[in-house]
Amino acid sequence: MLATMGAMGLAPTAEAAGREPAFRAPRTGDFTLRGRGAAKVVVVGAGIAGLTCAYELGKAGYDCTVLEARDRTGGRNFTVRGGDSTVDLYGNRQTARFSDGQYLNAGPARIPQWMITLDYCRELGVPIEVFTNSNASAYIYNEKAGMTAPVRYRTAKADTYGYVSELLAKATSKGALDGEINAEDRERLLEFLKSFGDIGSKLTYTGSEHRGFTVDPAAAGTPGVELGSVPTVSEVFASGVGRYFSFEFGYDQAMLMFQPVGGMDRIPAALTRAVGGHRIRTGAVVQKITDKARGVTVTYSQDGRTRSIDADYCVAALPPHILAKIPHNLGAAVQTALEAVRPSSAGKIGLEYRSRWWETDHRIYGGITETDMDLSHIWYPSYGFHERRGLIVGYYNTGTNADSYALLSPAEREKRAVAQGVKIHGDRYRTELASSFSHHWRQTPHLEGAWHSMSGGPDAPAYAPLNQAAGRVYFAGDYLSYADAWQHGAFTSARKVVTTLHQRVLA
Ligand code: ALA
Repeated sequence: MLATMGAMGLAPTAEAAGREPAFRAPRTGDFTLRGRGAAKVVVVGAGIAGLTCAYELGKAGYDCTVLEARDRTGGRNFTVRGGDSTVDLYGNRQTARFSDGQYLNAGPARIPQWMITLDYCRELGVPIEVFTNSNASAYIYNEKAGMTAPVRYRTAKADTYGYVSELLAKATSKGALDGEINAEDRERLLEFLKSFGDIGSKLTYTGSEHRGFTVDPAAAGTPGVELGSVPTVSEVFASGVGRYFSFEFGYDQAMLMFQPVGGMDRIPAALTRAVGGHRIRTGAVVQKITDKARGVTVTYSQDGRTRSIDADYCVAALPPHILAKIPHNLGAAVQTALEAVRPSSAGKIGLEYRSRWWETDHRIYGGITETDMDLSHIWYPSYGFHERRGLIVGYYNTGTNADSYALLSPAEREKRAVAQGVKIHGDRYRTELASSFSHHWRQTPHLEGAWHSMSGGPDAPAYAPLNQAAGRVYFAGDYLSYADAWQHGAFTSARKVVTTLHQRVLA
């Protein structure tokens, strides 16, 4: 009852206390109570934020039309399958030759358990499966740091945790922490370090079975052979392997994580169905947004013709730096705020292989290999285990690394990524390759960015004009959230706009 009254503006909401307010989708019954009708809304941008606005408003009978500049819905939620074609802003044309069932999630690819993206998967009937974000069997390879061979995560962690434990245990035993903790806590700390670093009663790290085995334990007579050649403490820190370990502690990156079965675009596909294809106009490039006293007019071009649509309200759910290039009468403060949002670069290449050699030869089933090379991350697939073919993300990089790959032709990108991957995985990284497809967000027409950088965050005074309606125009997108670069940010931003717009219509 309180939530309902809150949504109708009749009671304080959790939002007032700085918490995410419980979302209550608009209902047709809201109008019966108030004796008003639903309004007409034009949504610009059929990414997750725009589709969600149309979906949630549609539940109460709002007459929504979504204008999408690209030929597909989903925005940056883009799954590449065989037959998909793109042309980037440099003129590179690609058509994916992936086999049936193989796909590359070029945009979002992992979902933490706490994000409402999973609630939308549940509501929309999109099946999910585990996405493996960290794997003890995956590699770390820091070429610039002087590593000559990759090391498994488990080994890198065993050595790093082992030496850190030894050093801390020695310091503790010498009384270096006496001023910090009492005698009882010192004992407890030592007990913890002994097991965490596997340093034994001598409190010295000399290797551990945590590192892994060269011959795995098997039947009687085969106890296994532990991985030897334990590096020195100096070698371990010089290798820089430890810089990757805190990643998996992140609130938004910790396992378990999830992905939709069959590709991330199952989410926009389900939203598109729920909104209704007849409400979505693709290939509709907005030319002008005019806020008027009693409505909004959005002018757009489609099929070489200029058209316009009148509505009671507009939700601008397109990238802010793209909106900044479109004529509007929303005021200088809005324009300044839009221009203050900076787009960021990211790119990925999908490498389809004729065999899943990483499973058979390396015993790697999903997860991520980390490098200090310009390819940054290599992702092994979390789907299709033990099938014949499989698809690796051969680079997932950002910033200048992404931009430097984007400047290459697709064939050159593949060559460079494969040459680096061979250093980690050997020749099969090249010889088993069937085809590749690369995608760069900063060079993608109508999107021109992977995510955003906003000085001070979405609540900084510079962005205040975007966190409220400019006349009859509202703004939505992951950039207006504390989860930029996550669909959760787009969903929550859309919900916020839907709630405030609905309150206004009801009032
Ligand atoms: N949310 C994006 C990722 O997980 C940036 O890679």
